[in-house]
Amino acid sequence: MWRILVTDEMRLGEVRHPEVRLDYRPGMAREEILEVIGRYDALITRSRTRVDAELLEAGVNLRVVGRGGVGVDNVDLEAASRRGVLVVNVPEANTRSAAELAWALLLAVARGLVESDRKIREGQWDRKYLGLELDRKTIGIVGLGRIGGQVAKFAKGFDMRVLAYDPYIPRSRAQTLGVELYDDLADMLRQCQFLTVHTPLTEETRGMIGRRELYLLPKGAVVVNAARGGIVDEKALLEVLDEGHLWGAGLDVFVEEPPGVGHPLVHHPKVVHTAHLGANTLEAQERVGEAVLERVIETLQGNLAHAL
Ligand code: NAD
Ligand code: MLT
Repeated sequence: MWRILVTDEMRLGEVRHPEVRLDYRPGMAREEILEVIGRYDALITRSRTRVDAELLEAGVNLRVVGRGGVGVDNVDLEAASRRGVLVVNVPEANTRSAAELAWALLLAVARGLVESDRKIREGQWDRKYLGLELDRKTIGIVGLGRIGGQVAKFAKGFDMRVLAYDPYIPRSRAQTLGVELYDDLADMLRQCQFLTVHTPLTEETRGMIGRRELYLLPKGAVVVNAARGGIVDEKALLEVLDEGHLWGAGLDVFVEEPPGVGHPLVHHPKVVHTAHLGANTLEAQERVGEAVLERVIETLQGNLAHAL
């Protein structure tokens, strides 16, 4: 019998394996997780649960950690490997939804959707607002992986010129997508009226879009971060927005989630937010839930094909 603990919201579907006992406890407090994790063979999370050395130490029987999504930046992979805990994720299951949300944010910022909605609710019918059109504008994509690639395909539908910076992909990928691949981030940024980041959060990408990079964008550019908080440096973004260089920004992610109510970006009039909802569609969560459970069980059974 394998015991699996699920500590984040997920649509897991039916458990068809008689040898599995699943405890679905989304929202469980960290102290409680630390208290009970020793009883489980596997843990399934999304980004809320920090799977660090302390948690892995407490998980004396833990053999597998399943990440319901792509990013494993909330899992200490080194500590897991030291303890012989295998980590699996389901990177392909939420690609489409994440790319769609990046576009939702970009369009919302370009056309003032949130502001107009708010005004109507307050009884104002303000038709003076002028937004931005996308036709023949240039979008820059940092990270041309699964999500970045899908974002590029959508951009083509808007007749945009699509540029990308990603030093780790073959040129052929960019060519297939009809994207101009840049070796130099600064060269790309100088041309982008729209910028969206789709890299993992790593030592290299943390803060990679800072004050200097934001000022390389033409005045009036739109910036979207639906990848991870901190890839676009929050302090720099705030300053550059306040200095009037950017049209606005769309953010699905923060360095600290949830951000405190006092966080200056939260109330910023030029920023549109969503609460880390990139993967939150009915469809993606069904795919994620089904795939992560299957992968965790396969890994418990000794199939290491998906272990990171
Ligand atoms: P992916 O691995 O397919 O693509 C990431 C790309 O980033 C790769 O092509 C890689 O070469 C590139 N990259 C890495 N370091 C880079 C650097 N320093 N500069 C430029 N490019 C770099 O991953 P994906 O499935 O496209 O997901 C990307 C990220 O999006 C995830 O790691 C996750 O953090 C985030 N994400 C967020 C949500 C959400 O809910 N907001 C949902 C899914 C994924
Ligand atoms: C991911 O990395 O897949 C995203 O953060 C989405 C999620 O955690 O659901």
